[in-house]
Amino acid sequence: MLTCQKHLFSLPDEISYLNCAYMGPLPKKVEEAGLKGVSVKALPYQVVPEDFFQPVKQLKQLFSQLVDIADPERVAIIPSVSYGMANVVRNVKAEAGQNVVLVGEVFPSNYYAWRRLADEKKLEIRLVNAPTASKGRGAAWNEALLQAIDGQTVAASLPHVHWADGTRFDLAAVRQRTREVGALMVVDGTQSVGAMPFDVETLQPDALICAAYKWMLGPYSLGAAYYGSYFDDGSPVEESWMNRLHSENFQALVNYQPAYKPSANRYGMGESSQFIGVPMFATALEMVMGWGAENIQEYGRRLALPWLGELREMGCQIEDETFRGHHLIGVRLPEGVDLDRFKEKAIAEKVYLSFRGNAIRLSVHLYNEEKDFERLLKAFKASL
Ligand SMILES: Cc1ncc(COP(=O)(O)O)c(C=O)c1O
Repeated sequence: MLTCQKHLFSLPDEISYLNCAYMGPLPKKVEEAGLKGVSVKALPYQVVPEDFFQPVKQLKQLFSQLVDIADPERVAIIPSVSYGMANVVRNVKAEAGQNVVLVGEVFPSNYYAWRRLADEKKLEIRLVNAPTASKGRGAAWNEALLQAIDGQTVAASLPHVHWADGTRFDLAAVRQRTREVGALMVVDGTQSVGAMPFDVETLQPDALICAAYKWMLGPYSLGAAYYGSYFDDGSPVEESWMNRLHSENFQALVNYQPAYKPSANRYGMGESSQFIGVPMFATALEMVMGWGAENIQEYGRRLALPWLGELREMGCQIEDETFRGHHLIGVRLPEGVDLDRFKEKAIAEKVYLSFRGNAIRLSVHLYNEEKDFERLLKAFKASL
């Protein structure tokens, strides 16, 4: 059973950081890997051609291990979710009148990519909004999502848990439904991968796109994407020389090469070697895997459960455990809470969390401990 790991992070003792869904803190080891990466660039004569490729290869292997991808060649290094999605959308075959199914209030990096395709190809965007009733909300939302997928659906593009309120989507059910109708399933794993188990071999999404800087505790401007066989012959958003066959041979780079490296390699970002970011991301993945996503969930469950119970008793609404993760929890506040006062009190208690309308978003990780929730509850009670 995991214990609190705050000693592995630089977070000061008096800070209660309940906001990993906004930005994950770098573990000290990841920070060190980054500093080492900075030094590399100061002495470029030490950088050999292999350094452009080998660390990226290792990073792809680590990501494959994390989310159970049999072939690391199916992983591409990306700078952002919007980039990973642009590669997806650019290669989706669709005809006028078909539709794309998205969850309501999906993170914009997903929406805008599909919006462009929909405008170009005259597709319908089906935004499946959250039900208004609070009882059975998660179950009803999942049901509505399945109902929206039909014979005209090109793709369902969704997260594992909703970025704003933590609602969990049943990806296995969506996969089954999309298979029945011949649609793609594209997953944005940014708010779950690292802290929640994800298994590509079992779920078989057509694409999985993840930014590194939240639950994978990696650097900003880096991420990893899995592209399944649907995308094997597609065209990437940019043409990096690194993605061409035999690009390791620097002597022969101008013998222009028509062939890409296999599988998803064509979708990797230009300058993917990132001498600072890649070792940071790899170190972070080693740490995350050392803990295990299952154990991170269990830690969050154990820590948060009693406090969530107390919040419920004071009138807060929290999704049923079946339809949420234990790392990202949306809490709808009861009427009568003075939000400005709550924000003020949270700042005074040095509690960092996200406010959204009359709801808060709590992110729980291994650096969190009882006193973070004690401070949160203190700020909440003072705002009633
Ligand atoms: C679900 C989700 N996807 C993606 C992102 C980031 O997107 P991008 O990498 O395009 O900036 C966020 C950031 O909050 C997010 O919550």
